[in-house]
Amino acid sequence: MSVSFSPPVSFAALVFLFALSSVTFAAEASSGTNARSPPTQEQWMALADELDGRLHTALPVSSPCFEIVNGVHVGRNETECAIVQQGYTSPLFRSPRFSPRMFPHWETCQKTAAKCLLDSSQPNNSVAWEGVDCEQGSVSPYYIDVQSAIDVQIAFRFARETGAVLSVKASGHDYKGRSGAPGSLSLWTRNLNEMSYSANFVPEGGNESFSAITLGAGVPFEDVYAFADANNVTIIGGYHQTIAASGGWVMGGGHSVLSPVYGLGVDRVLQFRIVTPDGQLRVANKIQNPDLFWALRGGGGGTFGVVLESTMLVEPQMKLQIASVNFTQTPENAQQFLKLIVDQTLKWSNEGWGGHMRASGFINVNPLLTLEQAKESVQPAVDFALSQNGTAVVEELPSWQAFFSKYVVFVESAIGAPVILGTRLIPVDLFSTEAGKAKFLGVLDNVIAQFNITPGVVYATPFLFNHTEGSTSVTSAWRNSLWHMSYHGQWAYNSSVEEIRAQYELNSNMTQMLRDISPDSGAYLNEADVHEPNHEESFWGDNYPALLDIKRRYDPDGLLDCWQCVGWKGLEDERYKCYL
Ligand SMILES: Cc1cc2nc3c(=O)[nH]c(=O)nc-3n(C[C@H](O)[C@H](O)[C@H](O)COP(=O)(O)OP(=O)(O)OC[C@H]3O[C@@H](n4cnc5c(N)ncnc54)[C@H](O)[C@@H]3O)c2cc1C
Ligand SMILES: *[C@@H]1O[C@H](CO)[C@@H](O)[C@H](O)[C@H]1NC(C)=O
Ligand SMILES: *[C@@H]1O[C@H](CO)[C@@H](O)[C@H](O)[C@H]1NC(C)=O
Ligand SMILES: *[C@@H]1O[C@H](CO)[C@@H](O)[C@H](O)[C@H]1NC(C)=O
Ligand SMILES: *[C@@H]1O[C@H](CO)[C@@H](O)[C@H](O)[C@H]1NC(C)=O
Ligand SMILES: *[C@@H]1O[C@H](CO)[C@@H](O)[C@H](O)[C@H]1NC(C)=O
Ligand SMILES: *[C@@H]1O[C@H](CO)[C@@H](O)[C@H](O)[C@H]1NC(C)=O
Ligand SMILES: *[C@@H]1O[C@H](CO)[C@@H](O)[C@H](O)[C@H]1NC(C)=O
Ligand SMILES: *[C@@H]1O[C@H](CO)[C@@H](O)[C@H](O)[C@H]1NC(C)=O
Ligand SMILES: *[C@@H]1O[C@H](CO)[C@@H](O)[C@H](O)[C@H]1NC(C)=O
Repeated sequence: MSVSFSPPVSFAALVFLFALSSVTFAAEASSGTNARSPPTQEQWMALADELDGRLHTALPVSSPCFEIVNGVHVGRNETECAIVQQGYTSPLFRSPRFSPRMFPHWETCQKTAAKCLLDSSQPNNSVAWEGVDCEQGSVSPYYIDVQSAIDVQIAFRFARETGAVLSVKASGHDYKGRSGAPGSLSLWTRNLNEMSYSANFVPEGGNESFSAITLGAGVPFEDVYAFADANNVTIIGGYHQTIAASGGWVMGGGHSVLSPVYGLGVDRVLQFRIVTPDGQLRVANKIQNPDLFWALRGGGGGTFGVVLESTMLVEPQMKLQIASVNFTQTPENAQQFLKLIVDQTLKWSNEGWGGHMRASGFINVNPLLTLEQAKESVQPAVDFALSQNGTAVVEELPSWQAFFSKYVVFVESAIGAPVILGTRLIPVDLFSTEAGKAKFLGVLDNVIAQFNITPGVVYATPFLFNHTEGSTSVTSAWRNSLWHMSYHGQWAYNSSVEEIRAQYELNSNMTQMLRDISPDSGAYLNEADVHEPNHEESFWGDNYPALLDIKRRYDPDGLLDCWQCVGWKGLEDERYKCYL
């Protein structure tokens, strides 16, 4: 299905081109006593031979639109440029290709403004490329299209021998730039696409069986959902077509609108198959490598190894009640509606609702109630929307697949333009007392008054789910919260470094107001403020010291690292030279 888009140039020719051009490699640029020279052209060629066609070079996805790429005059390719323009803001275009990320600022070097971008709001706007050079930015110049454990083992050995910097990418959905690093050799797991279903899956070495689906590390949720539906089961997953179910989503937490009843991704995963940085292919489950299994259940992607597949518990096919409420937002009704949903949240949470809410409506889902009960439950919100001349539908659908295709695909978050998030897990006590609600609404109103920004609410914490204490490594704040709330920041493709910096700062400031009223809570590491203060505590709470031990045990040489990940080397490391 995915169209191959490699430039029509041989591997050797591209290695040569990089050698001539302004592309620099992390090892080359690094300073200090341990600085190593970058892999030589001969080393890259030897790696290419060993990988037998699975090592590729990469240019920024928009490069065919530019005359000059990495300082070399190559000329535009109108045919290829038209394809990029057409797909620029589509996840279905971006996710099966190596170079693009969902958020194009992570393809750039934000600090130096080295980039190769089109105008997201109008990709055919020639101002973006006329007289402008395309620069490699943070796009890894080399990547391995991972097919099996051997490819990953070769890469870890290469990194150990040559000092090459590694990065790991599945779908490129990351909000924090963790699926790439400038000058790195990337391990791209997007084409690990196997799926299988077993009604009696037994984790290796175990004696209990489960109804479960096993997924290669690259399989996007839209394929997972179709597969589960074809097998007449329900898998609990994210709110977007192209997130990789077995990648960063599950390792970082993995929320679903069904999580309030069925738990987070980390609660449902039964087993991983992973190559750890010491080169071992391992099974991690409750019985084998249980320490690693625990760390992979919340410690985050890109940290403990390269996951090849995961196996997840599934539920029977189920009916869902859907409540969709929508009206045209005004400053007054936004505030009134936020008050209404804050007032209702504790009751709704006890009834099993989850969903996505905003100041002008919601799409909520319930697997526990009957249609009649659901209608009664959301009546206050329905009445409110109708009073604003809005719309409201409460209906029963036969399956998750029916819900996803009817509701989610049309409202899922836009991609292809820069977006950042600042989020907080909002604890129960801010919904359960009048004083708590007043304090919380005070902050929401204050942000509206000061910045005219209303929040997005992911209503997906595992509130009713009966989890086993100590089984996962996510912050315990997840278990004690009702909302995962976010503020968005954004800018244009051509915004200046200073404008971008201001957006990060504004976003951090708004998020800080939420931290101030929930000092003991935390944040979801996959969707947090890029500059989360005290991130170890925020993402992992008391689990951090044990996570760090496990990181050191399985990755003693620190071959893997990512921004604010467990064992993070810190912003002084060369790998982070493009972060603002
Ligand atoms: C539009 C949109 C909607 C979203 N909706 C949801 C949602 O409903 N629920 C939710 O919980 N989150 C959601 N997210 C956040 C999502 O979970 C994170 O972006 C997550 O990091 C994506 O993981 P990925 O592997 O698909 O992405 P990538 O960007 O490819 O990778 C993310 C991280 O995981 C690592 N990684 C990827 N693959 C592997 C692997 N095979 N082995 C080891 N490490 C790996 C990467 O190195 C990186 O650190 C959404 C994000 C976007 C952009
Ligand atoms: C442009 O790209 C297309 C598709 O990859 C290729 O067939 C064609 O030869 C290229 N044209 C030029 C002028 O390089
Ligand atoms: C770009 O595309 C839009 C919408 O398809 C069109 O209206 C506009 O004329 C195009 N602009 C250019 C410069 O081609
Ligand atoms: C299953 O294994 C656990 C320990 O792994 C053991 O305690 C239990 O007795 C076993 N159950 C059966 C039915 O074998
Ligand atoms: C699908 O699963 C449901 C719920 O377990 C069951 O009632 C139904 O009979 C199954 N349908 C088929 C076609 O197997
Ligand atoms: C809400 O309604 C407006 C028009 O009234 C529409 O443009 C928008 O897409 C709707 N949003 C949702 C989430 O249904
Ligand atoms: C809703 O529509 C009616 C009839 O057009 C109008 O009188 C009323 O002012 C509208 N209400 C709001 C809140 O827009
Ligand atoms: C949690 O456990 C209680 C007690 O066994 C049970 O009544 C409840 O249904 C369980 N909740 C969920 C969401 O499974
Ligand atoms: C960015 O592009 C827009 C539209 O092309 C233009 O109006 C604006 O001036 C540009 N901004 C900067 C900082 O160049
Ligand atoms: C963020 O808050 C700091 C400290 O209050 C303030 O100095 C700064 O101007 C704020 N930045 C933005 C962009 O609002």
